[in-house]
Amino acid sequence: MSQPPSTRVPPHELPASLRDAGLDHWIREPLDDAVDRRRRIIMPPAVAVLGTPASGYQGALLAEAKHADTVFMMGDNPALPTMPERPSLRDFYLLRFGPIPRMHLLQSARVARENGLDEKVIMACLLHDIAIAGLVPANHGYWGAQLVAPYVDEEVAWAIEKHEALRYFPDESVGYRYPAAYIDYFGPDYEPPAYIRREAEAARRHRWYMTSRLVTINDIYSFDPNVLVDFDDFSDVVGRNFRQPAEGLGFDGSPVAHMWRTMIWPNNFL
Ligand SMILES: [Fe+2]
Ligand SMILES: [Fe+2]
Repeated sequence: MSQPPSTRVPPHELPASLRDAGLDHWIREPLDDAVDRRRRIIMPPAVAVLGTPASGYQGALLAEAKHADTVFMMGDNPALPTMPERPSLRDFYLLRFGPIPRMHLLQSARVARENGLDEKVIMACLLHDIAIAGLVPANHGYWGAQLVAPYVDEEVAWAIEKHEALRYFPDESVGYRYPAAYIDYFGPDYEPPAYIRREAEAARRHRWYMTSRLVTINDIYSFDPNVLVDFDDFSDVVGRNFRQPAEGLGFDGSPVAHMWRTMIWPNNFL
């Protein structure tokens, strides 16, 4: 027996407090693609809402889930493109990463290639901000290095991790200045914390220092909307420098598979 179109399901009356907090945008009313014609709530993750008023609404969202027609979001969110069963790095680039970080990474890798740099540097540039693109921005160098460590040369992962600290500190001997964009982002008086200073000093003494420094030098801070770069321009570099697991990223049982799965299903309640 065919059911009437789910769009006929009247929108659930939300408590005014949730509407006032803008949290109706985190709730997907039953649409034609809805599972069992039920509403699905996205619980904002702690890292996104701690320190903001939205963190005060966990209880109200939990109460909503008590309605028989309401569940929390688990699995595919219809608002996102479906990922293939065995996702590759390319799939994350094209189906998950936002347009601005994606273009930032591609333009950085392009400049590194035009500068005639080693493929390890090009690969590190291509990956250096993937945590910002798909996971979490704070500590993105460390998250990014962990994400790729099982699949790239140790030097590439190291360079990605250390760019986090090195980008704050000029090295005039190789033409690296403090990024003008950071004055906009953080204000002219921003001082990196002591642990970042220590990390940068240690990285500077390391034998792979210049690999990471080159990531910061080729880091494109001003996004050029007119330069379009295709991920497939780098398929040769990726093929030689990224060991794509046959089971797909997220399903190979590696110590970081859960981090890739978090990007496949970023709205899972638990
Ligand atoms: Fe970065
Ligand atoms: Fe960057």
